[in-house]
Amino acid sequence: MHFSTLALTATAALTPLVHAVGNAIVHNNCAQPIYVWSVGSAVGPENTVNPGAEYSELFHSDPSSGGIAIKITRTENGLYDGSAQTDFAYSLDGNNIWYDLSDVFGDPFSGTSVVVAPSDTSCGTIDWSNGIPPSGSQVKVCESGTNLTLTTC
Ligand SMILES: *[C@@H]1O[C@H](CO)[C@@H](O)[C@H](O)[C@H]1NC(C)=O
Repeated sequence: MHFSTLALTATAALTPLVHAVGNAIVHNNCAQPIYVWSVGSAVGPENTVNPGAEYSELFHSDPSSGGIAIKITRTENGLYDGSAQTDFAYSLDGNNIWYDLSDVFGDPFSGTSVVVAPSDTSCGTIDWSNGIPPSGSQVKVCESGTNLTLTTC
């Protein structure tokens, strides 16, 4: 953590046009744990996010897939057993961050809510107040220094 902060500071000092990027944050407001994987061209480890806790990662690109999908299930190992999952996808594109929300294999937060809110409130919020994706595209864009916080329940 300290090393990467130093490396980022050094890089920023050498190349002043590089802006610090924000974070993709998953805040679990449900009463039960949720399970989170960060997926690019490879699948990262399962992260258990307890009630009230957060998972967070700095926006980054995958060298082969480009975009990253943060996959969320309500059951342990859910990514591998066909459980309903919510996918919070982002793509870092220069000074912009594109973001989207979708479900596959069902709607894990049906009857509750899922919201993606940018810290820069001039950018778009994705608000599924009943936990169900509306029809049509959800894709939003913001400057890459914003934090995007997905809150479940
Ligand atoms: C983004 O989140 C990080 C970590 O919580 C925080 O240090 C930083 O100030 C936040 N940035 C913005 C723009 O809210």
